[in-house]
Amino acid sequence: MNTTFNLTSEFQTIFETTLTPRTFFAPGRINLIGEHTDYNGGHVFPAAISYGTYALAREREDQTFRFYSMNFPELGIIECTLSDLAYKEADNWANYPKGMLLFIEETGHEINQGADILYYGNIPNGAGLSSSASIELATGVLLNGLYDLNLERIPMIRLGQKVENEYIGVNSGIMDQFAIGMGKKDHAILLDCQTLEFEYAPIVLDDHAIIIMNTNKQRSLAGSKYNERRSQCEQALSDLQQKLSITSLGELTPGEFEKNKHLINDKINQKRAKHAVYENARTLEALAKLTSGDLNGFGKLMNQSHLSLRDDYEVTGLELDTLVQAAWDHEGVIGARMTGAGFGGCAIAVVEKENVDHFKKNINEIYREKVGYEATFYIASIGDGAKEITE
Ligand code: GLA
Repeated sequence: MNTTFNLTSEFQTIFETTLTPRTFFAPGRINLIGEHTDYNGGHVFPAAISYGTYALAREREDQTFRFYSMNFPELGIIECTLSDLAYKEADNWANYPKGMLLFIEETGHEINQGADILYYGNIPNGAGLSSSASIELATGVLLNGLYDLNLERIPMIRLGQKVENEYIGVNSGIMDQFAIGMGKKDHAILLDCQTLEFEYAPIVLDDHAIIIMNTNKQRSLAGSKYNERRSQCEQALSDLQQKLSITSLGELTPGEFEKNKHLINDKINQKRAKHAVYENARTLEALAKLTSGDLNGFGKLMNQSHLSLRDDYEVTGLELDTLVQAAWDHEGVIGARMTGAGFGGCAIAVVEKENVDHFKKNINEIYREKVGYEATFYIASIGDGAKEITE
């Protein structure tokens, strides 16, 4: 645990102490398939990755919280007190831990003392691998550990989502926090976002690896476009409810959707809803393919998912489409698609291990030529959910 060792001395320097902090970790996530289905009451199929956020902390005697991120050293130490946890734009990234703190307190868990907390994340920045949910859950397990709160995992996950929705203002679903809170090494999680019933599925890829392809395109407008997609789906649902007694798009099969789509007045909303319904069906099928060892079938579903996100949901764009198309055209690739919210960020590809080096080089050349700058590639290793690191 080299990182931890260095982080400990980093903590001691920043906070001018000789005391040893406790160390917590929360991963980032990829989503294998089931995109923009979570807030539509459908299924998702994400997995936690080994990149994530470390959070090191010591309690203080007073009621002050001091936050420092090694990813934003220029912002220095950001401070707040237990009696003033309101959102402040100037507090920047520290609003995520502040939001967790506020909502954990509001649910009746008593925190009477402050803490010094150092964060370090090795998830590529703004890449759609859920760095924000990772900070939320790292903070959740940290507060839980430091103050013996006995906070159960599912409520903690829901509080993370509440921070996004009510504190930060992004109407995101439950997928990211769930994957990060419940991740399991070498497994993906098939989650029903309506009921939160879930099952773990071993990721057995034989001679293949999952490659994360980062467009390196920052997603500044992601929040607002994301919220727009969500309200388009809500409008489509409300049109369908004129006749159907459903509470979410996730309850419809593709066949039922086709029979009733004329009820959706707006053509664009119809396309958005079509994606949500078909993507949900694909996700259930993908679980079956993966567990029966039909990797090619699984890859085909990934490809269809990307096409639907490109043509019907319209959240891909030049950068993601270039990477994914180049991957589809490359030898030894079983499937490829964008992952996460879209509008930039990352795509994933399932690639034959012996082709990986060659793959990275060729895809990057095509990308540079078409987009004008480099993409970055990582091999995804699937890890555990948020926890304290004690070794
Ligand atoms: C973001 C959100 C998730 C989910 C995905 C799209 O990651 O935080 O809740 O909606 O986009 O599948």
